[in-house]
Amino acid sequence: MKENNLYINALTNPIFEFISTAADNLQLETYVIGGFVRDYFLKRETPKDIDIVAVGSGIKLAEEVAKLLPNKPKVQVFKTYGTAMLRFEDIEIEFVGARKESYNENSRNPNVENGTLEDDQNRRDFTINALALSLNKSNYGLLLDPFDGLGDMDKKIIRTPLNPDITYSDDPLRMMRAIRFATQLGFNIEESSFQSILKNAERIDIITRERIVEELHKIIASPKPSIGFKLLFKTNLLERFFNELTDLVGVEEVEGQRHKDNFYHTLEVVDNISQNTDDLWLRWAALLHDIGKAPTKKFHKTIGWTFHGHEFVGSKMVYKLFKRLKMPLNNKMKFVQKMVLLSSRPIILASEVTDSAVRRLIFDAGDDIESLMTLCEADITTKNPSKFKKYHHNFKIVRQKIKEVEERDHVRNFQPPISGELIMEIFNLQPCREIGIIKDAIKEAILEGEISNDYDSAYDLMLQKAEKLGLKIK
Ligand code: CTP
Repeated sequence: MKENNLYINALTNPIFEFISTAADNLQLETYVIGGFVRDYFLKRETPKDIDIVAVGSGIKLAEEVAKLLPNKPKVQVFKTYGTAMLRFEDIEIEFVGARKESYNENSRNPNVENGTLEDDQNRRDFTINALALSLNKSNYGLLLDPFDGLGDMDKKIIRTPLNPDITYSDDPLRMMRAIRFATQLGFNIEESSFQSILKNAERIDIITRERIVEELHKIIASPKPSIGFKLLFKTNLLERFFNELTDLVGVEEVEGQRHKDNFYHTLEVVDNISQNTDDLWLRWAALLHDIGKAPTKKFHKTIGWTFHGHEFVGSKMVYKLFKRLKMPLNNKMKFVQKMVLLSSRPIILASEVTDSAVRRLIFDAGDDIESLMTLCEADITTKNPSKFKKYHHNFKIVRQKIKEVEERDHVRNFQPPISGELIMEIFNLQPCREIGIIKDAIKEAILEGEISNDYDSAYDLMLQKAEKLGLKIK
């Protein structure tokens, strides 16, 4: 409901009544501002954090609110920033005094002075993030929108309140944020803003890798991540921290033979997969699945362009990239490496689906087989409708075959039916090469379908191999 520019319906959460009473008790002009207000007008899901700005002390306001709340929550005070935070149910509420900021050329840390609401709105990143709703009883729910953020929402544009050179140079992370919001919301970046990002791109170097990655995650988690990556590329930001991707840009032609542009192909794959999964790390795998193609690219007179071993090279590059971007080197990274390494396997299968190849694939992919198939299906970007149909059809057959082989042979997370310990005991051996040879022979025979995946068949094969190796039962 809107009456005289009052948006009381945005303030249904009971926390606003408490803040309102506290603000009036202290006679502080107080507003809710930023993402919460933006997302209300854009009809997005209500965010789990709320930003409150008071013209005066945000810390005192937080303490007064805590006093009024029945459960008397603890107020966390960040003295150096002049901010305070408290939790109400599952929401984090941050309180800050309105401020005027100016930035130093070489640092992200601003010089801060107390200011008016208008000063505070001026220093914000985008017009759509500068909307404020009053929380004082006299004008509860009144919208203050000095830069026509609502108009920009209608026009679907990302625009800075001040001259973009000032806004971006003040905090270069905002260049990433502009692109991230454009991607999440399907908005355009206003032309002078775009030009300013292009001009200031190298200033991104002063931003920590962690904060850049946070924005990358949000771009990748968006409905159509290619929007963000195309903008990152066109503004020259991408090459400053993600050369593995920009190295994929371009089409080379030798003797009339061209290869595809692997950058744009990759972006299509990421968009495709985003229609089928919200798994952030599977989306990362799609983004990185071809990065090994730049260093492995070769032209052969007889066969044309090749990228031999790009999956292996690519999976090694994943580690280096994660390390450089200061991303955790954990199981998620290993998952991405595994997807990159196996990314061509089902495609090879699609032309000839043999039981043994399917068994090997299940063995190598284990529980990630579903994810791998989802990646490979997203990798089909051919514009030829009959090929598109054929490839998808082949993958359907592969999926069917995987199901059949799984039900029959149980090779997922396969543990050989004869263990190394058992071989040592039967032949009275200390650890030695022969144990590995026998174990491998059993594994290979099962995967090739020469013997079935059970104890007796494995035992017989063990005896045969042992005899050839000159081993005797004790
Ligand atoms: N802000 C800013 N410049 C930044 C970061 C934030 O001006 N570099 C301002 C914006 O007004 C923003 C508010 O601080 O709306 C809160 O920032 P944050 O919580 O990081 O982002 P949200 O806008 O709430 O959006 P999201 O939660 O999607 O990041």
